Amino acid sequence: MKRFLSCMALAIALNGCSESSELHDAMESMKEPYKTMREANDINAVKTEFAAFMQGLNIAKIQKVKTEDQATFDEGMKKLGELTGQVEAALAANNLEEAKALLKKMGDVRKEYHDKLGVK
Ligand code: HEM
Repeated sequence: MKRFLSCMALAIALNGCSESSELHDAMESMKEPYKTMREANDINAVKTEFAAFMQGLNIAKIQKVKTEDQATFDEGMKKLGELTGQVEAALAANNLEEAKALLKKMGDVRKEYHDKLGVK
């Protein structure tokens, strides 16, 4: 019984280490669509990837982080949300140039908040 319990404890501990958080998964799912949009020169490709990016972002933005980081996180997500709203409008107007400029700004927000939140 003792051995069984220590095995269980070990299993739980190992699982805890390898567990991927919902925020991490959502961020990872935004990575490729973002990269593809930055490289794309075809508005339809950007539209498709933008939808995939938004799926991840909509999950990411409602996540809880450490209490001391929450305000910074929410502020960055708000900025990113404003920019994605503008991208959506640019895409609806078929304005690729404007969308690309906004995508660059999204990258600046990512850098700023990844730095602020100590994301490596
Ligand atoms: C274009 C926008 C963004 C993309 C593509 C993106 C992508 C990523 C990726 C791929 C990771 C995993 C670690 C890494 O490889 O660097 C990550 C982690 C993280 N990002 Fe972002 N990010 C974006 C914007 C943001 C913003 C605006 C915030 C904060 C408001 C943020 C907060 C975080 C946090 C807290 C983590 C650590 C989560 C974890 O791995 O447990 N990200 N992000």
